[in-house]
Amino acid sequence: MSKPKRSLSGIKPTGTPHLGNVLGMIQPAIALQEEYDAFYFVADYHALTTVKDPTVMRQKVYQITAYFLAYGLDPERTAFFRQSDIPEVTELTWMLSCVTHMGLLERAHAYKAAIDRGEDKSINHGIFAYPVLMASDILIYDSDVVPVGADQVQHLEMTRDMAQKFNSAFGGNFLKLPEAKVRKEVATVPGIDGRKMSKSYDNLIEPLATSKKLRKQCMKIETDSTPLEAPKDPDTCTVVDLYKLVATDEEVAQMEQNYRAGGYGYGHAKQALFEKLESTFATPREKYESIKDDEAYLEKVLSDGTQRVRPIVEEVMERLRRATGLGRP
Ligand code: ADP
Ligand code: TRP
Repeated sequence: MSKPKRSLSGIKPTGTPHLGNVLGMIQPAIALQEEYDAFYFVADYHALTTVKDPTVMRQKVYQITAYFLAYGLDPERTAFFRQSDIPEVTELTWMLSCVTHMGLLERAHAYKAAIDRGEDKSINHGIFAYPVLMASDILIYDSDVVPVGADQVQHLEMTRDMAQKFNSAFGGNFLKLPEAKVRKEVATVPGIDGRKMSKSYDNLIEPLATSKKLRKQCMKIETDSTPLEAPKDPDTCTVVDLYKLVATDEEVAQMEQNYRAGGYGYGHAKQALFEKLESTFATPREKYESIKDDEAYLEKVLSDGTQRVRPIVEEVMERLRRATGLGRP
């Protein structure tokens, strides 16, 4: 039997995963554990660009670990680890930095957005160099596929670009070129204002929030002001767009029919969406509650994960040190 391909992805330990994170990245990544050699990590080095409190950092790492386990990550199959437990990733970041043009980084969406917000003087080098660290995260494990949402595709293109630059600078196929794996139907999950759901827009639905909070988030979804009695267009409504991501085909067809018939208000649709979210995420919610405070268990998952990935890192770094002439021969 041929060796399974490797799937790798990371997520920053910032807050509660929202529906966009869960449907766009967390669940697709976890689903790949069946078929791939899966490596997933908590990107604490990346979070350091903004998080400056060690207690908060540690807690957030445990929190994200608990969320992944709650959403079905099987630690027996999948290596789940802390990015900073593999410090070699910063060594590779430097190697890649030395073949990466400033111009490439200046084109990164996240950097350009910060400049557009007028932050050019306050932005730290970590944010500017973020795509290089992310490339290193991927390349250091000889990854084949990277499950992410659509907003990360540019970073994957940059990663391939850096790998090619490195390979041509040192004359060999030292780094494997990875591919983004984006699920079309959840590439960009809309938020309650219809824009991409994102922490930066304050338009979230958090599947594991309390019932009360989740209902409130659903009720705040923006709709037009068509009165309850009038027929409505299901093709231009964020409530229906979100419902489609969690409901069965029959349930969606029923909601669309209700819209077209009239006498069915947006409030009804929002309530149906809320109930569907509650039932869909009942199991992860229970699981999250049962493990979230068990730091010893969460740490054990992370350290087992680190042990699993370490031999790959050693092999790849040895290859790269030989390629570059760095380190003792
Ligand atoms: P945010 O935009 O809220 O800061 P992150 O950048 O932390 O989210 O994203 C973590 C992961 O979730 C990435 O793989 C990203 O592509 C995915 N993701 C984030 N928002 C969405 C969304 N609205 N739809 C689909 N995937 C998303
Ligand atoms: N940049 C990703 C995000 O904002 C997180 C991330 C860091 C990542 N390193 C990665 C994703 C490597 C995939 C592979 O969501």
